[in-house]
Amino acid sequence: PQVCWLSPEQTAGKQKPYMYTQGQAVLNRSFFPCFDTPSVKFTYSATVKVPEGFTAVMSATSWEKQKDNTFVFKMSQPIPSYLIALVVGDIVSADVGPRSRVWAEPCLIEAAKKEYDGVIEEFLVVGEKLFGPYVWGRYDILFMPPSFPFGGMENPCLTFVTPCLLAGDRSLVDVIIHEISHSWFGNLVTNATWGEFWLNEGFTMYAQRRISTEVYGLPYTCLEAATGRALLRQHMDATGEDHPLNKLRVVIEPGFCLFLGVNPDDTYNETPYEKGYCFVSYLAHLVGNQSKFDAFLQAYVNRFKFQSITADDTLGFFLEYFPELKEKGVDSIPGFEFDHWLNTPGWPPYLPDLSPGQQLMRPADELAELWAADGLNMEAIEAVDITGWRTYQLVYFLDQVLQKSPLPEGNVERLSKMYPKISKAQNAELRLRWCQIVLKNNLESEYSKVKDFLHSQGKQKYTLPLYRAMWGGSEATRALAVETFSATAPQLHVNVQNYVKKILGL
Ligand code: BES
Ligand code: ZN
Repeated sequence: PQVCWLSPEQTAGKQKPYMYTQGQAVLNRSFFPCFDTPSVKFTYSATVKVPEGFTAVMSATSWEKQKDNTFVFKMSQPIPSYLIALVVGDIVSADVGPRSRVWAEPCLIEAAKKEYDGVIEEFLVVGEKLFGPYVWGRYDILFMPPSFPFGGMENPCLTFVTPCLLAGDRSLVDVIIHEISHSWFGNLVTNATWGEFWLNEGFTMYAQRRISTEVYGLPYTCLEAATGRALLRQHMDATGEDHPLNKLRVVIEPGFCLFLGVNPDDTYNETPYEKGYCFVSYLAHLVGNQSKFDAFLQAYVNRFKFQSITADDTLGFFLEYFPELKEKGVDSIPGFEFDHWLNTPGWPPYLPDLSPGQQLMRPADELAELWAADGLNMEAIEAVDITGWRTYQLVYFLDQVLQKSPLPEGNVERLSKMYPKISKAQNAELRLRWCQIVLKNNLESEYSKVKDFLHSQGKQKYTLPLYRAMWGGSEATRALAVETFSATAPQLHVNVQNYVKKILGL
């Protein structure tokens, strides 16, 4: 399942085949022999010979092209197996900063350069200021074919991203900031087991939002975090708060039976990200001072860099670093015990204050209220001008509308006509929400948009929610699901294919 072989039709250019690998969580064992656990780190080198007209790139600190289309790669820092990645395709690159370039198929390279020219370096510089030196040398970004199952993958030196990020307006740059943040949290300090995946993702969400706050300010960052919280709410509603995967520390291998274990790939959901973010925010709240907590994060990276650790190491270091908090017994405050955070499923006991984002969220909340009303107050609705809204404000608005759906008969049609900017959006985050709204409101006239969106890309976080919604809907949406899946299945990553099959009972 690790190596994906794409035919020319599955690429953007449709001319040449393409191959890529995706290691995380436990797929690299089917690529090369290795200790395929994040608890073991090693350097690597690789020699890759490709056919004429193709280029190979890897997650490596240095590479050179030799004769006979042979590429030699070296990763000189120790990394866990899941971070080794290879792409071979018709790809070219363009510089976007002093240590960064974008890679893409020739037909996408202009758009890729335009999207991120001159902005990457600032994120790296702010990251270094907050968390310490960037040790990986280069930070390049590779735009993948549309079927790439993730928004981004933090392969060291060379982040892989979905082409959906090419929105034309940098509006989805939070994904890049997220992957950059893994340069410290995940790639330097690594979760020792996939049962503590939240150590990678929760700390990275926190780091991402720290960088975002420095670059874009607190209100915007709180707005983005609020959309994350909405995803956590949707996830917990869908799975039930008590689901065993809604703990930060997941049991992967129950000691008594080898065959009852959990596949780490199945633990990919919002809990490690957003509940993890809440726990790290709670630790910051205990400290009560942002610069002291930033200093702690930097000391933490320095203490555990190039190692793989467990949450016990993290929390032990936290209490050691703040002896006054240890003395106060902050690890055992009733309801907020560290042990409770780690081992109890459910909604986080502490939520960071996102009220600085209110100035951006309130108009969206109010507008969603208006659209959910029984008799529409068109005068009030028309008085709200959304043309200047940022993408994440629209996303937040749509999440509110979705939460209130199904809306009274006819409202969604009117909404669709009133805001072509939303219903005809090209931006993937907006398309996802619009499709969810279309399905929840049984707006048959726009079912084709769901189909088109699922044909256009194969990101897991977009694909599965839509199939779940279709399968949980009417006869018509179930038929739509079957029809869409039979047409698109060969394009999907095999993991995503299998998850969809499960949803459809195949
Ligand atoms: N490392 C993850 C992607 C991943 C997780 C791959 C689990 C395989 C197994 C990556 O850093 C990530 O979290 N991507 C997010 C970005 C988002 C949170 C900004 C994604 O793809 O949606
Ligand atoms: Zn991540």
